[in-house]
Amino acid sequence: MLKNQRQYIELVEELIEHDKHYYDEASPVISDYEYDRKMKQLIEYEKKHPEHVLAHSPSQRIGETATEGFVQREHIAPMMSLANTYSSDELADFIKRVHKGLEKKEILFSCELKMDGTAISLRYEKGRLVHAVTRGNGKVGDDVTANIKTIGSVPLKLTGHVPDVLEVRGEVYLSLATFEKLNAQREEEGLEPFANPRNAAAGSLKQLDPREVAKRKLNIMCYGIGEGQSPKSTQHETLEFLERAGLPVSKPHHRALCSNLEEIMEFAEKVHKERPKLPFEIDGIVVKIDELKFHQILGATGKTPRFAVAYKFAPEQAWTRILDITVQVGRTGTLTPVAELEPVFLAGSTISRATLHNQEEVARKDIRIGDCVAIEKGGDVIPKVVKVDFKKRPSSSKPWHMPTHCPACHASVVHHKGEVAVRCPNTRCTAQRMRRIQYFASKHAMDIEHMGEKVVEQLVERSLVTRVSDIYLLTPQDLARLDGFKEKSIRNLLYSIEQSKKCPLSRFIMALGIKYVGTETADLLASHVKDLDHLLSLSLDELLSLDGIGEKTAQALVSYFQDPDNLEEIHLLLSHGVSPERVKKHIISGHPFANKTFVLTGSLSHFTRDEASELIKQRGGKVSGSVSKNTDYVLVGEDPGSKYEKAKELGVAILSETQFKRMLD
Ligand code: IVH
Repeated sequence: MLKNQRQYIELVEELIEHDKHYYDEASPVISDYEYDRKMKQLIEYEKKHPEHVLAHSPSQRIGETATEGFVQREHIAPMMSLANTYSSDELADFIKRVHKGLEKKEILFSCELKMDGTAISLRYEKGRLVHAVTRGNGKVGDDVTANIKTIGSVPLKLTGHVPDVLEVRGEVYLSLATFEKLNAQREEEGLEPFANPRNAAAGSLKQLDPREVAKRKLNIMCYGIGEGQSPKSTQHETLEFLERAGLPVSKPHHRALCSNLEEIMEFAEKVHKERPKLPFEIDGIVVKIDELKFHQILGATGKTPRFAVAYKFAPEQAWTRILDITVQVGRTGTLTPVAELEPVFLAGSTISRATLHNQEEVARKDIRIGDCVAIEKGGDVIPKVVKVDFKKRPSSSKPWHMPTHCPACHASVVHHKGEVAVRCPNTRCTAQRMRRIQYFASKHAMDIEHMGEKVVEQLVERSLVTRVSDIYLLTPQDLARLDGFKEKSIRNLLYSIEQSKKCPLSRFIMALGIKYVGTETADLLASHVKDLDHLLSLSLDELLSLDGIGEKTAQALVSYFQDPDNLEEIHLLLSHGVSPERVKKHIISGHPFANKTFVLTGSLSHFTRDEASELIKQRGGKVSGSVSKNTDYVLVGEDPGSKYEKAKELGVAILSETQFKRMLD
């Protein structure tokens, strides 16, 4: 029990110290239990004495409630990205350019780690954190202050003498250990794992409930100042100043002041060597001119400043041995060879499998069982085999061939002329069934939360689900047989199953898993037909008459709807209460979007892409996949891709999410 205000203030300071140990030094001095106990005392006192509550008290980090969405805020100084270099020659060109641009022989460069996370702007006014905003499209981002406050290493109040307005830029990231834990937990809960720590950090910042964000244990590294001026004249002193103000910056041995290419490369080498041992992911180093006044002089080209470049490292690789090559059967029967590896640690996780894509790829790289191979993690969770060390190949090894029979159902495999894929033709194959069920439950289809791949695997293994319609017959007793399923998880899953029954027709069509039918085709079909019966009755000619449906797709649809097994399954789904609905199209007449063609790029924060497309279509507009001179608008979200560049090149009108929202009504 805290007796008085003095003890309260002391506890606030003590907990701030503990946050520092936990986040900055990754070495907590008290147990989580002890920390929680102290925090509880603090909150109890604050409840009794609201007049004493300090704005920077650690209790203020945890928002009480979830929000409905994020407010958007403009960046007074745009948040740009960095030009990338991949070789010392490209770095040399950068150095030459700045020497020429500044007409100076001696220039110092501040070299730092390039953290692989997601950019953030922290605005402090009179030393207090007022807003934290994501990069967004560089000009406008989401206000995620409540989420950022959950990060223990972000000071709510700066220390020492700081300018009245200080807008700090940094990178929010997840440590590798936290990322591993988070993904393990997600898999247990039947949720899709995040592909990498960067996606996990960006995804976490977009959570609407700060209490959920607090559980993710995000971290931050600050690297500069945005709006306003640094009180220092150089980048390296700015970092020291930020550190003194209480903000987390790179450790001193992860920074260097270099005066030429050789010194920069030496630093890059040192960091590259240390990279596998770092507790977080980096994707290179950043080289910045140290003298800040030169930043202004050099200015920027488009989205990238001229004063700095990133020197990117190649993705991390690890060597290991292929113990076996197994074959995975996909939803449509495609056989994919998979390398079963001697477990090896790579970029934050232990890898024991890698995809080999297809038979042609295995032959092209001449990959064999017993080979010593280099594996690499791209942007995906599944790593790939990049090369073989032929010198280490066992003399007895033989080239690998795709089996002639399906490993799951033993049907003879088929290889259609002109196709790379080898397939199992048996639609009743057990492995195909399992994949179809996983696909049916997935996000793009029926979107049954908590029913991830691992959960489906268990349901199928225990014969609780053998066809998709069985999902809707599951009872609490059935689910109690799954590993780790207790009262709460059972309730969650049954609730998600129930929720999925009322679904848009387009997603139901997707969920059927018909060959060649992806989101666009499913949307097109759903908007063309009156209802499901109408869809089932469409002839080949009628399908072919639809703009956007080709011969192969039309044929696949007809044969799918002719198969009595498929029809029975659809009827079972309906009889178990699944009721796909055609989302009513209230076409809003005379809207400025009428007859306009849109292209979407980057991720939007208020809508999914499907929702934004639907809103456009409701207003008489069209959505296309690629930018051309016929495109009227490009709707640009966060981290836009090449479509954005193309739109600028062609002079197509660009809409931010805010402008789009304004134009909707
Ligand atoms: S300076 C003009 N320094 O890399 C932008 N950026 O493509 C100036 N990043 O989104 C950025 N570590 O969030 C800078 N030490 C560092 C960085 C860093 C990571 C991120 C940044 C930005 C991206 C640039």
